[in-house]
Amino acid sequence: MIAGYAVPDFISDFWHYYIAALTILGILFSLWILYSQTTEKLAPGQQAEVLHPTWDGDLQELNNPLPRWWMWLFYALVAFGIIYLVLYPGMGKFAGVWNWSSADAYKQEKERVDAEFNKVFQPFLGQDIMSVAADPKAQEMGKRLYLTYCSQCHGSDAQGARGFPNLTDAQWLFGGTPDEVKASIADGRVGEMPGGLAGDEQGAKEVAHYVLALGGKPHDAALAAVGKEKYAACAGCHGEDGKGNNAAGFPNIVDDAWQYGGSEAAIIESIVKGRKGGMPAQAHLGEAKVHLLAAYVWGLGGGAKPAPVAPPAETVPTEAAPAPANQ
Ligand code: HEC
Ligand code: HEC
Repeated sequence: MIAGYAVPDFISDFWHYYIAALTILGILFSLWILYSQTTEKLAPGQQAEVLHPTWDGDLQELNNPLPRWWMWLFYALVAFGIIYLVLYPGMGKFAGVWNWSSADAYKQEKERVDAEFNKVFQPFLGQDIMSVAADPKAQEMGKRLYLTYCSQCHGSDAQGARGFPNLTDAQWLFGGTPDEVKASIADGRVGEMPGGLAGDEQGAKEVAHYVLALGGKPHDAALAAVGKEKYAACAGCHGEDGKGNNAAGFPNIVDDAWQYGGSEAAIIESIVKGRKGGMPAQAHLGEAKVHLLAAYVWGLGGGAKPAPVAPPAETVPTEAAPAPANQ
């Protein structure tokens, strides 16, 4: 009768027997004390023994047995304890005949609540993310979900913080189309850059100035000129132009959207130490919630239109030809 999840982490069966034995001995001990107290009655006419000298004039402590009703209350408590230990877990690893566990109770409660809310969330799954983003009621729900599950990292205004990207702008690490945003949320993302690629601190400083120069920001031209060569170690990921690659999660390092900061010192730190950011996968929330969250985030202002699917650019009919009927 022991369900897998209800078995506590006893290292060996010894602890199971040890705790069960202590529990049973405890109950027997209570019964013995109760019984010994109940049976000690005063014979008619017998005076109770005085245990202590008299205090405060006339206050005496006698060894009278407890009143009957009080004793029965204790017996009832012992009976309650025994019934409880038969029904519920409490004796070592014995799960109780009802097989109740807090984990199970939580699971059932969660399933019940999920089923209730899914009735509300589910209909949006049938609509594409851009239409959901245009529905104020859906955005209201998305916002509440966002505040529950995401705000601790991305901020309640979704503008991010150091290490946590801003979700309201059009600069994306992993792409801003509806599908890309949804994939970021459902599957999570990891971005990792090894440190030390530009040699020592001085090398990092030179590349940093080249990065600033690429971005058209104030920089030291002499340092940037030396850094240009070392930038070869970076171009494979961030691109010759520094604009990165959304599909691979290599950030644009020539715009104004910084995950770790765009000051000279912050860029040097990124280069010297490397960076690693992780977005935890949210698929466990269920697709309906992820869909609403994706629509909410997409609709915050930075969402990009999905790339046009077929026909590819080369085969688009000439301007003169009438546009093909879509359906
Ligand atoms: C293997 C691929 C790779 C290489 C090589 C690489 N980076 Fe990165 N870089 C990344 C990734 C991925 C991130 C984002 C890390 C994250 O998501 O937390 C990043 C982040 C950064 C950042 C921080 C961006 C921000 O928004 O704060 C800077 C600056 C940077 N890289 C500069 C460089 C420079 C300069 C070089 C060459 C010395 C370089 N990177 C080499 C992959 C790379
Ligand atoms: C534990 C902190 C944490 C939580 C919670 C979290 N995120 Fe993230 N999220 C991150 C980090 C860090 C990144 C950037 C990953 C990287 O550095 O490569 C990220 C990236 C993203 C991206 C991709 C951004 C881009 O520029 O491409 C989206 C979209 C996103 N998160 C949405 C969400 C949503 C919606 C939730 C709530 C369901 C959420 N996040 C919860 C930390 C978090």
